Amino acid sequence: MAEEKFYKYVIVGGGVSAGYAAREFGRHGVKPGELAIISKEAVAPYERPALSKAYLFPEGTARLPGFHVCVGSGGERLLPEWYAEKGIDLLLSTEIVKADLASKFLVSAAGTTFKYEVLIIATGSTVIKLTDFGVQGADANNIFYLREIDDADKLIAAIKEKKDGKAVIVGGGYIGLELGAALKVNNLDVTMVYPEPWCMPRLFTAEIAAFYEGYYANKGIKIIKGTVAVGFDSDTNGNVTAVKLKDGRVLDADIVVVGVGGRPLTTLFKGQVEEEKNGIKTDGYFKTSVPGVYAVGDVATFPLKLYNELRRVEHVDHARKSAEQAVKAIKASEEGGSIETYDYLPYFYSRSFNLSWQFYGDNVGDTVLFGDNNPESSKPKFGAYWIKNGRVVGAFLEAGTPEENKAIAKVARVQPPVEDLEKLTKEGLAFASAL
Ligand code: FDA
Ligand code: NAD
Repeated sequence: MAEEKFYKYVIVGGGVSAGYAAREFGRHGVKPGELAIISKEAVAPYERPALSKAYLFPEGTARLPGFHVCVGSGGERLLPEWYAEKGIDLLLSTEIVKADLASKFLVSAAGTTFKYEVLIIATGSTVIKLTDFGVQGADANNIFYLREIDDADKLIAAIKEKKDGKAVIVGGGYIGLELGAALKVNNLDVTMVYPEPWCMPRLFTAEIAAFYEGYYANKGIKIIKGTVAVGFDSDTNGNVTAVKLKDGRVLDADIVVVGVGGRPLTTLFKGQVEEEKNGIKTDGYFKTSVPGVYAVGDVATFPLKLYNELRRVEHVDHARKSAEQAVKAIKASEEGGSIETYDYLPYFYSRSFNLSWQFYGDNVGDTVLFGDNNPESSKPKFGAYWIKNGRVVGAFLEAGTPEENKAIAKVARVQPPVEDLEKLTKEGLAFASAL
């Protein structure tokens, strides 16, 4: 007979948000058997950003249990034993294949029914695949995507097998830039291909991108812009051998890594809950349109108070904070209390080679660039401000110290007025530091 289980709280998804939600439940006191985390991954929640960075390094490699949540934000590391001690059921390698929000139950691939009082949807994103667009030959072996630890393990095996081989990176976003660097550090011959005129166009200005592209070129990475992969050749074993580009060029490849964007995993809940901007619509407590159902992390489209609009954010800082906010709200409502609505300052970052940047706020309006963005410099350090309606609304900094990063975060939060953009350019970081 099919198994049936009941939990007061169920978190579906076992990634970053799930881990931070569990810690928050732990802080508020959770009774044994009250909470279950259901994850299709085989390991306890971990800091996903490590997968495209130290997890792939040939030296100083990160491995579990080293980067379980919440070490990424300087917090306690929640090992599987932590969940067991708290009586939290960590149901791993368990995929939910059906959700009935009206009748409050989920069903796993193995047929177990999970009933709940309160559900937190934390299913995150999945990768967009080239096979989704029917790109010819895109199902060949050694074409990799990176979302989960299993994907990273497969990529590492290929890196070892194709030692000193040729890698083509398709996509010039976060995955493209971080993986391009990681594969280069692993001594592969790396070529990056992306359709836009510069990398990371959803955040970078042309000037910011020029620095990173120059730096990567100096490291020996070849960059091909303004075209896309339209097909792949493979050998008789089905292993990829070449990438065919729309502009007619053909690139030899032993390994291909594709990073052409993510898609929030909301399919289980389609038609059952209000959606907005590709995500599940929530209020400032991450409550959805269905009573007792919350959505956090990548899947949530929430009111971004600072800009008075609904946004979805696919970054780790928001995954952590939204999860904490939802659990605080759940606990407060049980006690008849209330908390402030979510008041988020967008924060994105990336690291590759010896580079490290942070961005806070909104990248809209005019921009000014300050500092030394020459990729040939021995210690490049530069930044940018975004100015809208006479106020600084966004700030970017490469190679900032912790204090300097705090200062640019403050600028983005406070949104100080500026009149003279030339003066702002000259002042540069001093403008933020003086605030
Ligand atoms: P997350 O993806 O972490 O977790 C979702 C979980 O749900 C997964 O365990 C998944 O298996 C599970 N799941 C999904 N469907 C399920 C189902 N039907 N049944 C059971 N389980 C299911 N951000 C940043 O700010 N800085 C950075 O450096 C990076 N770096 C980075 C690297 C890589 C490789 C990736 C893929 C992403 C990043 N990010 C990032 C983005 C960041 O990791 C991301 O925004 C958060 O992990 C989102 O947290 P969630 O909990 O929403 O999803
Ligand atoms: P992305 O949206 O950052 O970048 C996708 C890139 O692929 C864009 O430059 C896009 O124009 C390009 N592209 C689209 N179609 C293409 C095609 N056919 N051929 C070549 N290029 C194409 O997405 P991503 O880099 O795949 O990242 C996936 C997810 O992981 C996102 O949610 C991202 O936020 C997250 N992530 C974040 C970080 C970070 O914050 N440091 C690091 C890694 C991953």
